Amino acid sequence: MKALLICGLLIPTVLAITGPEQIHLALAKDVSSMVISWVTQDPAGTPHVQYGTQSLDQIQDGNTVDFEYNGVHKYMHTVTLTNLLPATLYYYKVGSTTAWSRQLQFKTFPSGNNFQFRVCVFGDLGYVNGTSIPFLIDAAERGDFDMVIHVGDIAYDLHTDNGERGDLYMQELEPLVSRVPYMVIAGNHEDDGKNFSHYQNRFKMPGYDNQFYSFEIGPVHFLGVSTEYYGYFFEYGQDPVFNQYTWLQDDLQKADNNRDNVPWIVGFQHRPFYCSNDNSYECRAFENTLVRVGYEEMPGLEPIFNQYGMDIQFWGHEHSYERFLPVNNRTVYNNTPNPYYNAPAPAYIVSGSAGCHTPKASFGTPNPASAFRSDDFGYSLMTVYNHTHINIQQISVEQGKAIDDIWVVKDPGHRMNSNGIKGFQFPPADYGIKCSFRDTTCRREADKFRAIRSGGFVP
Ligand SMILES: [Fe+2]
Repeated sequence: MKALLICGLLIPTVLAITGPEQIHLALAKDVSSMVISWVTQDPAGTPHVQYGTQSLDQIQDGNTVDFEYNGVHKYMHTVTLTNLLPATLYYYKVGSTTAWSRQLQFKTFPSGNNFQFRVCVFGDLGYVNGTSIPFLIDAAERGDFDMVIHVGDIAYDLHTDNGERGDLYMQELEPLVSRVPYMVIAGNHEDDGKNFSHYQNRFKMPGYDNQFYSFEIGPVHFLGVSTEYYGYFFEYGQDPVFNQYTWLQDDLQKADNNRDNVPWIVGFQHRPFYCSNDNSYECRAFENTLVRVGYEEMPGLEPIFNQYGMDIQFWGHEHSYERFLPVNNRTVYNNTPNPYYNAPAPAYIVSGSAGCHTPKASFGTPNPASAFRSDDFGYSLMTVYNHTHINIQQISVEQGKAIDDIWVVKDPGHRMNSNGIKGFQFPPADYGIKCSFRDTTCRREADKFRAIRSGGFVP
């Protein structure tokens, strides 16, 4: 049975929704393009977008994928608009000869490489207990930010009830994600037992697929990578890890060589390298080590981020907010008045407190690199000012204000390098249960242990 969200009430209905639904935007590689996607539950013919700046005087065709999951078909429509004018408000509607959406709007980014813009970042947002959703929609309508990055764990889960949960979530978010680009990366909850098929078919990120990709906005090179290639290598093999790593080396090298034009590299991935939640076994267990330093022949991600000078990276997975001091290889750099000024290592932020199916995440002993923690529901707001200044705030939707506020600053031409910089090296965490990453039985037992400790859920 389907349901409609009307005035905040979930209204069950037996009527099929045959028109366009779940309309959402994504950036392409070039900010002069916009990718518009939507879903119909029935075949709908060739998809079109009508759009324009004053009237809907232009039309663009797209393509449709007939996506089947457990015998349930959904029709995923995608249209890419190109050669859009910079810093321009566009109106649009989507559909086909059978049905059209209402009129919507988005604004393009300016051209060039030196302008201010704002990005909303969060992870771990569910349909059930999606506490931040109305606040995010209000903030987008106020124009508080220009783009959203969701660092994994979407809807809980996109494939639940054969995809109905994902439909409800995406429909609820439509007022937000039909207005600003919604850039996503997969979390562990996106594995639907069929190699992330819902995640791959519902979104269209600017890469080979949706698992890893990069794009640029003004002075920032954005980079999304999969930690789930690591987390699920025993199911899907190691090749995806190597493929991603080869691409990552090339992408980071090119981005690093282009610092004069695009000085910032900002990444996002689901699982953290470091965290200090008491109710998360992974903060003390093998998963973060697996992703951070690798396992057997699989390379980890932390060394290459430091090699090429990742400035800032956002994480999710833990259902809380936690900001870290610049840290590399369990060495924290905190010997200057502003450790984020010409930092010798990346600034990492866990932003997984948007609201989902679980109770609040409790904290244990702080990781030695941890600088600020909060379990308030909310989201992060990153304001890119120019080539030298980025501001990051954590917005608590419970308190209606910023509860954390930092500046990441670097001089023109500054090159990240921790050589000769005095830091504090902290010891490895207590891993508790030790499993070989290949030992599926042991991992399942560890998962049970973690679930018991954390009240029965898996982050
Ligand atoms: Fe997760």
